[in-house]
Amino acid sequence: MSPTVKLAVIYYSSTGFSAEIAKEISDAATKAGAEVRLLKAAELAPEAAIASNEAWAAHAAASAGIPVATPDDVEWADAVIFGTPTRFGNVSSQLKQFLDTLGGLWAQGKLANKVYSGFVTTATTHGGQESTLLALYNSIHHFGGLIVSPGYTDPVKFVDGNPYGTSHVDGQGNNPIGDETRNAARHQAERVVQIAGALKAGLAAA
Ligand SMILES: Cc1cc2nc3c(=O)[nH]c(=O)nc-3n(C[C@H](O)[C@H](O)[C@H](O)COP(=O)(O)O)c2cc1C
Repeated sequence: MSPTVKLAVIYYSSTGFSAEIAKEISDAATKAGAEVRLLKAAELAPEAAIASNEAWAAHAAASAGIPVATPDDVEWADAVIFGTPTRFGNVSSQLKQFLDTLGGLWAQGKLANKVYSGFVTTATTHGGQESTLLALYNSIHHFGGLIVSPGYTDPVKFVDGNPYGTSHVDGQGNNPIGDETRNAARHQAERVVQIAGALKAGLAAA
């Protein structure tokens, strides 16, 4: 029997699009047999900034019950899927700040030999999805992690068209998460669980 994969889904989301993908991934990974922690990166923005944006304030209230990620969650996990909205083609400062808290684990070699993957949301079609995921993946190389990107390993990937990770264009907040993104999210979750399970079994046997 293959070992149970422990998966941490760690995301930041201001207005809820990345949060919805995180939930889809978390549900699909649970269905695929993983033990899942769905976690958010701590907010860094001042209250006044959040309150000035209706969608941001609504999402902050709706997601108040989601636990905030800690380095212990990454240490616990066999696999981590990170998610972020793009910020000028880059990882959000909130998720980046969380990555920066992982220095202690990195120094002990505790980030290595885990599976990592990522997802992203943007407002516009060419708004930086690939650059954001590649920027995220830079850190994984430093961890000594194994990046499991979806590639084109399932027909759904020829529909959403992003081999680097699940992605969604929110159309300035007007385009809800639909089947195309949900299918890609489910595939990414299942693939990460499958590969992380094989890696865990292989490392245990080695
Ligand atoms: C400071 C800032 C910079 C952004 N930069 C970009 C960008 O470069 N390209 C883009 O398409 N969207 C950009 N966005 C929009 C968000 O990335 C996008 O709306 C995202 O889907 C929101 O995800 P969320 O609902 O999970 O917060 C930016 C938003 C902010 C606040």
